[in-house]
Amino acid sequence: MNPRYIISVLFRSIAKEGTDNDVGIDFSSTIKQPPRLNRRSAEYLITGLGKIEGWLCPTTAHIMTTLAELQTRLGIKGDLAEIGVHHGKSFLPLATAVAPGEKIFAIDVFEDQYKNFDQSGHGDLQTFLNSVHTYAPGTPLEIVQDSSLDLAAMGWPKSHANSIRFFSIDGSHTHEATLNDLKIAEQTTKDGAIVAVDDILSSHWLGVISGMFDYLKAGGELLPFAIIPNKMLLSRGQRLKGSWKDFLRAHYGQFISKHDVRFLDHPIDVVEENSSILKELEATMS
Ligand SMILES: C[S@@+](CC[C@H](N)C(=O)[O-])C[C@H]1O[C@@H](n2cnc3c(N)ncnc32)[C@H](O)[C@@H]1O
Repeated sequence: MNPRYIISVLFRSIAKEGTDNDVGIDFSSTIKQPPRLNRRSAEYLITGLGKIEGWLCPTTAHIMTTLAELQTRLGIKGDLAEIGVHHGKSFLPLATAVAPGEKIFAIDVFEDQYKNFDQSGHGDLQTFLNSVHTYAPGTPLEIVQDSSLDLAAMGWPKSHANSIRFFSIDGSHTHEATLNDLKIAEQTTKDGAIVAVDDILSSHWLGVISGMFDYLKAGGELLPFAIIPNKMLLSRGQRLKGSWKDFLRAHYGQFISKHDVRFLDHPIDVVEENSSILKELEATMS
């Protein structure tokens, strides 16, 4: 066997045991460190979240942004994306966590509301851009004004394969669109990615849970690990699924009402809303 190959295999196995990766980051100790928010993320949560029209619980906003920031600390680089941005309420916790060299995609039909079959929200490009300009000015942003149902025909998943590290799904809530959007997320995310799916347990939007069941039953590579207020979180593959759970247990443990509940074949944790989370954040910032 080529000696250089043996050395490289040896090096990789040492790196794996000691640090979980090739870039020398100790995952288990990083996950135990308190969640961090950069100033922009914190300011948006404290002053912006309540002002933007839309649908997002404070605890969910907090968790989305701290998970996106944790990915950066763990050396996971990539783009971010949301299908269904409306006025930007759940887009901004991700936009404020974009790291240098990354960008974020906003996918929405916006003014083409004839493509919004189930009237789930009503995107407005100018209002959305105003929100981004106010709370995340200068963030590298790519707008895709189209239905997510047309992304495959546009070649989008292939041209963005293996590039996205955080994908939020909150567009059309039909069964067909949910299944479509999960497949798009699967085809475009990279190892270490997190996917959030909105309205997973809403009785008004049963297309979401039925699309999710069909996706998981077909053996999808996105694996659920938690339900947070109004959203399900999924890990791209097994490798970091346990790490995301450990992070939630370490830092949001008081708000976890159930551990390892079975959802089809997936043991997931259930995180409840913490009504004082933003007040506590504000107190730490002043
Ligand atoms: C529930 S709202 C999104 C809420 C938003 N994420 C928030 O934080 O407030 C749904 C959005 O999806 C958009 N939408 C509806 N159908 C869509 C489709 N097929 N493709 C892309 N966007 C769609 C709507 O225009 C609307 O802005």
